[in-house]
Amino acid sequence: MNGRGSVALSGKRGLVGEVSRALAIMIVAGGFWGARALPAFAGNVSIIAPQESSTTLLSRNRVLNVVVKVEDKGDINQMNFKDDKTGRNFDPSGRYEKANEYYIHYRLPLTKGTNTFTLTPGNQTLKVKFSPLSSLLNVDFTKEGIYKFHKDGVIPDVCGGCHSNELPAGAKVDRVLYGKFSPECYSCHSRIAVESEWKHFPASGLLCRTCHQAPQDEKSVQIPSGKVEGLCFQCHVNQSKWTTMAHIHGPVGTGDCSICHDPHGSQHQYQLAADGKAKLCVVCHVDKKQYLDSGQRRFNVHGILSAQGCVACHSPHATNYKFQLVSEINELCVSCHSALQGVELGHPVQKHPIAGRKDPRRDGYAFTCTSCHNPHGSPYRYLLIADIRGGRICVMCHDSKKNALGM
Ligand code: HEC
Ligand code: HEC
Ligand code: HEC
Ligand code: HEC
Ligand code: HEC
Ligand code: HEC
Ligand code: HEC
Ligand code: HEC
Ligand code: HEC
Ligand code: HEC
Repeated sequence: MNGRGSVALSGKRGLVGEVSRALAIMIVAGGFWGARALPAFAGNVSIIAPQESSTTLLSRNRVLNVVVKVEDKGDINQMNFKDDKTGRNFDPSGRYEKANEYYIHYRLPLTKGTNTFTLTPGNQTLKVKFSPLSSLLNVDFTKEGIYKFHKDGVIPDVCGGCHSNELPAGAKVDRVLYGKFSPECYSCHSRIAVESEWKHFPASGLLCRTCHQAPQDEKSVQIPSGKVEGLCFQCHVNQSKWTTMAHIHGPVGTGDCSICHDPHGSQHQYQLAADGKAKLCVVCHVDKKQYLDSGQRRFNVHGILSAQGCVACHSPHATNYKFQLVSEINELCVSCHSALQGVELGHPVQKHPIAGRKDPRRDGYAFTCTSCHNPHGSPYRYLLIADIRGGRICVMCHDSKKNALGM
């Protein structure tokens, strides 16, 4: 034991020594017990977080933090957490000491469904039913059996002393000059604040309580659920105009911003759950996936998809045009295919109209470029809706035996 301060033992990160000095604790010295074989399981061992041995976790996060309290020093190095299904063993993420008690921290990875872990010796089991969360709509975090760590405030007594309200020296936090600064979240949730490639300012700046505090209660930690857009529009004031537009994208209409954006940060630009140009879209619009796999033979994908993705034409949030388009269809197409700019007659054949009529094939649709072209892709040349050979495209609207338009 090092009486002067603290020594890093098995925290995975190099910063542990420095950080823990600010936390005013002692960390158990490395290798101290390692070499000796310890036959006995001498003192009390308890899993202190989570408190229940069986619980349900609704979370975006696929890792559960578990803390085991060990009373006898000799037991520390023989504690072993095992995943019952895979047989995999987990190393602690840290072992720390406070007043002659030892706190072993684990980060246990979860898979969807029931996860059972056994802590040996002693055979204590921890059963976690895990539902990965993708939308907050209709999620009830207050339901019985749902894991809530912060039932008794921000830092429960058992974790106190080590975890404090102070921001440790060397914390990589962006300082934001407004909002409710929450240094007390850092020592446990630093990953949420700083690990993302694309950070969201209020999270990387530790404005956690802006979104997580119940209005009546300074000490509580709340999960915002239901419509989260209200949270977002507090700061993203200009975006609130979306709610007044004629065509609001499904999940935006239900106020479900966090189904696409991780409010803390992510590995993708704009803190999105996947690449926002196209991959994100086909998670829900699965029928459009085929347009991204251009490996298929004899299938022509609209060239712009691989470069600019779906958002070249569609707004992910809201617009005043049908199909969430960024402008009227013909205007949109000729903004890139400029040879047809201003043309009303003369494509694909002399005097042929490209606007200003009804689409004879589709009730309720105007006659536009998409009357003949599929904007996404097609098995036919020029993205046409039918083969140009044999005039098959023409007979989609013109019956060859009758007049134009089959009338
Ligand atoms: C912009 C609002 C916002 C800010 C700022 C914010 N959060 Fe969150 N947080 C949410 C929402 C919304 C959820 C609900 C679940 C989700 O969408 O991931 C959430 C969920 C969580 C969860 C549960 C994770 C999960 O998926 O189960 C934790 C832990 C968390 N936040 C911690 C923090 C910490 C720590 C900070 C500050 C570093 C912070 N949050 C800042 C909005 C925010
Ligand atoms: C004996 C001191 C001590 C006690 C008691 C303690 N911790 Fe910790 N904990 C630490 C130290 C030190 C760290 C590492 C801090 C760092 O690296 O920034 C840590 C880190 C963590 C982390 C972050 C792990 C990671 O790798 O991201 C979580 C979560 C955590 N503790 C939860 C708890 C909970 C919950 C309790 C109470 C049930 C608790 N701790 C009790 C000392 C302690
Ligand atoms: C002592 C460590 C510790 C501190 C400090 C801490 N948390 Fe947590 N928090 C946890 C643990 C452990 C969980 C359970 C989920 C997990 O294992 O990651 C959790 C879960 C959450 C959740 C999900 C809901 C819940 O209650 O389980 C939110 C939201 C959250 N924390 C926000 C915060 C915010 C905001 C702060 C600062 C005001 C904060 N936490 C400070 C350890 C801590
Ligand atoms: C406390 C104020 C605040 C809240 C609340 C907030 N944001 Fe932000 N957000 C910011 C700031 C500051 C930035 C960074 C400045 C910028 O790039 O516009 C940002 C950036 C973003 C960006 C990246 C913008 C860009 O152009 O790169 C997205 C996306 C975003 N926020 C979405 C959300 C969502 C979704 C919510 C609600 C869950 C939300 N924000 C809540 C303050 C906030
Ligand atoms: C269907 C998924 C989805 C939903 C739901 C969603 N967004 Fe976005 N958001 C995106 C995509 C994709 C981009 C990037 C657009 C681009 O690349 O042009 C984006 C960009 C942004 C930006 C930065 C650029 C801009 O337009 O200002 C902000 C801010 C933002 N979103 C906020 C929100 C808010 C607030 C909500 C809820 C009202 C929300 N988003 C809901 C997918 C979504
Ligand atoms: C979380 C699921 C989800 C994601 C992700 C998503 N959408 Fe949607 N989208 C919907 C829902 C729900 C509707 C509404 C469907 C309805 O009204 O029939 C919708 C409607 C649309 C429509 C209008 C369809 C119509 O018939 O009017 C378009 C266009 C669209 N989405 C494009 C996109 C694009 C582009 C992206 C990626 C930036 C995207 N969506 C991402 C769920 C999603
Ligand atoms: C070149 C512009 C363009 C691109 C890029 C584009 N779309 Fe479209 N999309 C349109 C147009 C135009 C319509 C209206 C179709 C019509 O008039 O028949 C449409 C219609 C839709 C619709 C509603 C009708 C239907 O076919 O289901 C959805 C959903 C949709 N697009 C999703 C997507 C997704 C997802 C992507 C990316 C994989 C994407 N779009 C890429 C132009 C585009
Ligand atoms: C953001 C720019 C952009 C928009 C908007 C756009 N396109 Fe394209 N389009 C392209 C690109 C790039 C190509 C690939 C060009 C190439 O392969 O020579 C292409 C190819 C095509 C082709 C195939 C040309 C060929 O010679 O095989 C057709 C047909 C087409 N687009 C029609 C449309 C229609 C109809 C719309 C409106 C729904 C539209 N485009 C909107 C950029 C765009
Ligand atoms: C009445 C059906 C029809 C309509 C409406 C139509 N097209 Fe075409 N388009 C065709 C046919 C047929 C071809 C193949 C022509 C050829 O072989 O020369 C073609 C070819 C093209 C090509 C590739 C050859 C070239 O000229 O570069 C592009 C790009 C194109 N169309 C864009 C558009 C745009 C943009 C619109 C709307 C402003 C539009 N088309 C409206 C039937 C149509
Ligand atoms: C999506 C439906 C559609 C397709 C496909 C289509 N047309 Fe048309 N066509 C029309 C409409 C609508 C008119 C305008 C009729 C009117 O003026 O009432 C028209 C008009 C014409 C006219 C008369 C132009 C004039 O002098 O007024 C000719 C010729 C014609 N089409 C030939 C073709 C040929 C050749 C093809 C195949 C390359 C073709 N059309 C494909 C819908 C279509």
